[in-house]
This record gives sequence, C-alpha cells and structure tokens, in this order.
Amino acid sequence: MKKHIVVIAGDGIGQEVTAVGKQVLDAVAQKYGHEFTYDTALIGHAAIEATGNPLPEETITKSKASDAILFGAVGHPKYDNDPSAKVRPEQGLLGIRKALGLYANLRPIKLFDELLGASSIRPEILKGADILFFRELTGDVYFGEKGRSDDRDTAYDTMIYSRYEVERIARKAFEAAMTRRRRLCSVDKANVLESSRLWREVVQAMAPEYPDVVVEHQFIDAAAMLLIKDPRRFDVVLTGNLFGDILTDEASQIAGSMGMLASASIGDTTGLYEPIHGSAHDITGKGVANPLASILSAALMLDISFGMKAEAEEVVSAVDAALKAGYRTRDIADADTPDDMILGTEAMGSQILTQLASVAENQVV
Ligand code: NAD
Ligand code: IPM
Ligand code: MN
Repeated sequence: MKKHIVVIAGDGIGQEVTAVGKQVLDAVAQKYGHEFTYDTALIGHAAIEATGNPLPEETITKSKASDAILFGAVGHPKYDNDPSAKVRPEQGLLGIRKALGLYANLRPIKLFDELLGASSIRPEILKGADILFFRELTGDVYFGEKGRSDDRDTAYDTMIYSRYEVERIARKAFEAAMTRRRRLCSVDKANVLESSRLWREVVQAMAPEYPDVVVEHQFIDAAAMLLIKDPRRFDVVLTGNLFGDILTDEASQIAGSMGMLASASIGDTTGLYEPIHGSAHDITGKGVANPLASILSAALMLDISFGMKAEAEEVVSAVDAALKAGYRTRDIADADTPDDMILGTEAMGSQILTQLASVAENQVV
C-alpha cells in the first residue's frame, strides 16, 4: 500500500522521539512491502523562528494533502515564562487541530504488565487497567472567545459547546464502547457549568440508542479522584477538551509515564498522531526521552488511518517484547532496573526495531 506521511516534529523532545517513530514506520513498510513517502513541515517555536508564524500556511497545505501526520510536540520555555507573548508555539498545535477538523482525540491508557512497578500507584490497584479516553479537541474554553478588559486587569475565556460538537464526539465514544467492555463514563461539571449541562443532556439523549452500553456521568473533580482510586472501573471515558487534557496527564501515571501515552487526533479527513506529552524542556537534548509514546502513536496511525491492523499489533508486540526483555528508559525504570538496562531514546528505538525484526521473522510463513 502506498501512503504519504507528513512528519511535524516540532520542538524540544518532539524532534528526538519523532525521529524514532518514523524509523518504526519505515521498518513496518519494509517488512510488509508498503511504500511510505514522507515530507516534513514546521510548527511551534521552530516555525516561529523560521517564519514568524507558529503554523505556516505550507504546513496546513502539506498536511491536508497527506494520508496521515506524525506529530511530535510544541513548546519553549521562553513563552512558558512570558504570559505577554502574543505569538506562541501552542497556537500552532491548536491551529492545525482546528484547520483539519480533528475533533476527536483518542487517548488509550494501556498499562503494559511489565510496567506495574513503574507507577506510583499500587500494582494490585492497577493490574489490568485499560481505558480509552475520547477527549473533544476543537471546542470548549480552548476555542471560545477570550480577551482582556481595556485596563487589562480582567481577563476571560469562554467555555462553549454546541450540540453537534458534543454529539459527534459522543457518537465515536459510544461506538468504541460497543467494541470494548460496553461501559461509558461521561465526565463534566454539570453541577456548575451550563456548557456541561448541555453536554450531559446530549449524552443522556443518545444513551437509548446504545442500550447495551452502561452509561454513567461523573463530575470532573470526582472523576479525577476515581481514576487513581480505582482505574479498572473505567472503560471508555468521554469528556471535553480541558477536562480531557488534565485527566489524561493524570492517567499517564496509570501507564507509568507521560512517555508511554500515544494519541490519535481524528476528524473527517487526515488524522494526526501525537504523544500526549509536550516538548519537555527539562530533558531536551539529553537523549533520554522515552520514544514509546511516539512509536505507539505510529501504531495508532497504522491501525486507524491506514487500516493496517496486523502491522499496528506488531508494533505494540515489539514494545511489549522490549519491555519484557527488561529494557527501560529512565522514566519507566524502577529501583530494581539494572543500570545497563536503562536506555536512551535512540537505543530504545533500536531495541524496538530489533524486536520488530524478530517478531517479523516468527510470523514469516
Ligand atoms: P511535558 O509533557 O513536556 O513534560 C512533563 C514532564 O514529563 C516533564 O518532567 C518531562 O520530562 C516528562 N516527560 C514528558 N514526555 C516525556 C518522555 N517522552 N520521556 C520522558 N519523560 C517525559 O509538559 P510541561 O513540562 O508541562 O510542558 C513543557 C512544554 O511543552 C510547554 O511549553 C507546554 O506548552 C508544551 N506542551 C506541548 C504539548 C504538545 O505539543 N502536545 C503537550 C503538553 C505540553
Ligand atoms: C496536549 C497539550 C496541548 C493541549 C497544548 C500544548 C496546546 O497539552 O496536547 O495535551 O492542551 O491540548
Ligand atoms: Mn496536555
């Protein structure tokens, strides 16, 4: 199969982990006889430096013309510490999500058994946790009207949702629940927020269409608590843009690290595949970033955008095999991990390629 992929590595560790994600795509293409062609495009701080714009028009054009996008991260400490900056790297990411209509962000929380000890949560609470988040991605307080008063002493952001926006993401979540354990938890703040009351109303109205799905509603504050208290009670979680952003960083601790969480941002056209983590200034350039979130994002691309289920499963198996063999990056190592099993970004990438090659050999008939 021929596919054209745009690689938008962005900033910080985005560059480091995306290079590894692409190597894995190359290895898959070679093994299965696919032809993947690539282009690159600028975003974030890198794009501001080169063009003054965090999302150059060319990046949108190239992205729209591609079959899928492998995305890294955006962000730079310069902006994090300068609230007055008008042009910001994050605008690039928000802009491309909006420009491509990527309203559904799927964030699977998959705990590899080998990483039970890497989490700060007790293993007996965690074992078997498997959650799929549906985070709405192009609405909410992220995209509502925002501004400052004339004296600049008052600021506002508007939390806003329309019925169709809730319906289309809820539909995806219900459909997914039907293929999983048939439980859907919708998270909102309907005891306080009008936009959440609309959210809850829409989800309640849709529930009878899916009689096999057990639907529950939780408020965001309680959901944040339950996620850590009893992660296994969740199957599919459906929530808005802001709540989903926060809950999934929290949920990364179920999977062991931010460096383990992949995501798929999808809409009606080209899908964009992105780790949930950011540019991680604290470890940029040190070669220690965990590339598995990027690799697992590549696996989601193979599965969702290209319909290459076997290829996607093979990538996940290769990750599993590398972890079973004892290899770790620093973020997922624990007190028992021997020093020589703690790998850097590239070395972990090489391990996955090695595992992929051996998984491949086993499967060749
Ligand atoms: P972050 O996700 O970059 O980092 C949070 C913590 O997790 C850091 O300690 C970091 O070292 C660690 N971490 C993250 N990814 C890792 C990996 N692959 N391997 C090992 N450790 C990893 O969040 P932050 O520090 O709050 O933000 C840094 C910058 O990134 C900010 O400018 C922010 O706006 C941006 N950001 C971008 C995205 C994105 O592009 N999708 C997401 C979140 C934050
Ligand atoms: C994420 C990030 C982004 C978000 C930022 C960088 C705009 O935190 O992808 O989770 O809030 O969506
Ligand atoms: Mn986030």
